[in-house]
Amino acid sequence: MSSADIDWKTLGFDYIKTDLRYISHWKDGDWDEGQLTEDNKLHISEGSTALHYGQQCFEGLKAYRCKDGSINLFRPDQNAARMRRSCARLLMPAVSTEKFIDACKQVVRANEKFIPPYGTGGALYLRPFLIGVGDNIGVHSAPEFIFSVFATPVGAYFKGGMKPTNFIVSDYDRAAPNGTGAAKVGGNYAASLLPGLDAKNREFGDCIYLDPETHTKIEEVGSANFFAITEEGHFITPKSPSILPSITKYSLLELAKERLGLEVEEGDVFIDKLDGYKEAGACGTAAVITPIGGIQNGNDFHVFYSETEVGPVTKRLYEELVGIQYGDREAPAGWIVKVD
Ligand SMILES: Cc1ncc(COP(=O)(O)O)c(C=O)c1O
Repeated sequence: MSSADIDWKTLGFDYIKTDLRYISHWKDGDWDEGQLTEDNKLHISEGSTALHYGQQCFEGLKAYRCKDGSINLFRPDQNAARMRRSCARLLMPAVSTEKFIDACKQVVRANEKFIPPYGTGGALYLRPFLIGVGDNIGVHSAPEFIFSVFATPVGAYFKGGMKPTNFIVSDYDRAAPNGTGAAKVGGNYAASLLPGLDAKNREFGDCIYLDPETHTKIEEVGSANFFAITEEGHFITPKSPSILPSITKYSLLELAKERLGLEVEEGDVFIDKLDGYKEAGACGTAAVITPIGGIQNGNDFHVFYSETEVGPVTKRLYEELVGIQYGDREAPAGWIVKVD
């Protein structure tokens, strides 16, 4: 598809092949220089550990077109750091922050025409990934690795304005108490496909995962973190070693405190005490901020602010976050990296 054929207004979250992607190979202890390629297919050994043992990890971030035509990356250093932690957990060689950001910038520049125009609410989604490859059969770390970054344009998460979504508590766990929940590795997502489909088949946006140890506390909302506003007006988000540390969530913790003047806390959100919250939301690169209308837990359905209206604090957080990402509001130091 050429960028001229894209209808920016109806663009969703689907793979669209862009012109060039970055690829770098690791062998004998070192990463090569890396290069851009037109080829969107990988030719890898049938014995690759990524295929059999899930030795792979990935990231997701966006490039935003600003009003003045410049291009923003939002906190790419944090994605680089998280990928390094994922690599450490799965015994893979990491790439430096410098190499990670340089690869993202090269891919954005090479596919500039695919960045949705300012004002459409879309962005160029970047998918860095790192996989174990090379001839292998035993359960151990791969002899070779590939680090790659590709881009695909994605549309506004909310077409026609922000709307609350309902979610349902899953009986499944997405991660184990001392497992890989905090790493962005494919196995966590494979485990989430069935519970996610169950939720969607029942007309919910996605499922809510409880903590795998006691099943009493909220952990994640599908592929997003959870936050709520308490009756006293505090911003709270769950704290647990099996949650993926969301860059959006840590950004909201800071914005809620510094810009909205709220007390903020990482703590327990018990599923049977939802009456203590007046607003709730899901947050992440893809979900941005999705207001949560209600949560179905067994036979109970709990509505937070409203099933149709967005709460005032959620709205302010959304405006602050999105304003920073598109360059309309001043960003805290170091949050925006320009692609020039
Ligand atoms: C399981 C999960 N939780 C939370 C998030 C949100 O993280 P971030 O804000 O870094 O995109 C994501 C998306 O990356 C995710 O896949």
